[in-house]
Amino acid sequence: MILSPSLLSADLADLTEELSALEKAGVQWLHLDVMDGAFVPNITFGPPLIGALRPKSRLFFDVHLMIEEPARYLKDFREAGANMLTVHVEADRHVRRTLAEIRALGMRAGLAVNPGTDIGFLRWLARDLDMLLLMSVNPGFSGQSFLPEIYDKLGAARVLLSKAKAKDVPIQVDGGVCPENVKELTKAGADILVSGSAFFGHSPYKTRLAVFSRAAEACPPRRAEEIARSWGCNQA
Ligand code: DX5
Ligand code: ZN
Repeated sequence: MILSPSLLSADLADLTEELSALEKAGVQWLHLDVMDGAFVPNITFGPPLIGALRPKSRLFFDVHLMIEEPARYLKDFREAGANMLTVHVEADRHVRRTLAEIRALGMRAGLAVNPGTDIGFLRWLARDLDMLLLMSVNPGFSGQSFLPEIYDKLGAARVLLSKAKAKDVPIQVDGGVCPENVKELTKAGADILVSGSAFFGHSPYKTRLAVFSRAAEACPPRRAEEIARSWGCNQA
């Protein structure tokens, strides 16, 4: 299991310190939630903040775009230093083209789906994406309650990916993840877990990371997880 802590729940007034504490704790990924007040009812940050953090950190910048028509900003996020861009299938009419553009810009291409969205599209898109993000809350805010329907969806996604000859595509789960559901999520097929409120505010981070990792130990890493791990960290 790869843990990708969500920056939204960090101390926003002291991000440099937070990033360095994460690295010292052995965290390798950072989840950055970009919200535009249109696709979701909340506004966060964009390329300027990511660009300011990039030289301060070697973490893998896993950028989750909760914005309408994300194709307009791919280059800006690349220049800011994103390693992966995840766009929502609900936010883009030409998502296949967008995924190809993200890859062409040298980033990993992720595709996210809201809890109410069907994943039948995997039949047609499975080989165009580097990661699938299944939302386990309605996107927009940290600290919401986890939707247990995700377990069935994870199983269904694993089957569809296999059928599409893309069984090694890593799956990320985002929303309400906490040590209590980590074991079941990894067993059901999740490789990367995002955690905001259940991670930050529980220092020291090294101990908190160990709590999440121990909960996942019951499930041996899949090849998909090894692939995602091999994407590594950025040379800042
Ligand atoms: C929700 C965001 C999540 C959120 C996770 O729209 O995409 O990444 O910050 O926060 P928790 O873990 O508190 O649900
Ligand atoms: Zn997110």
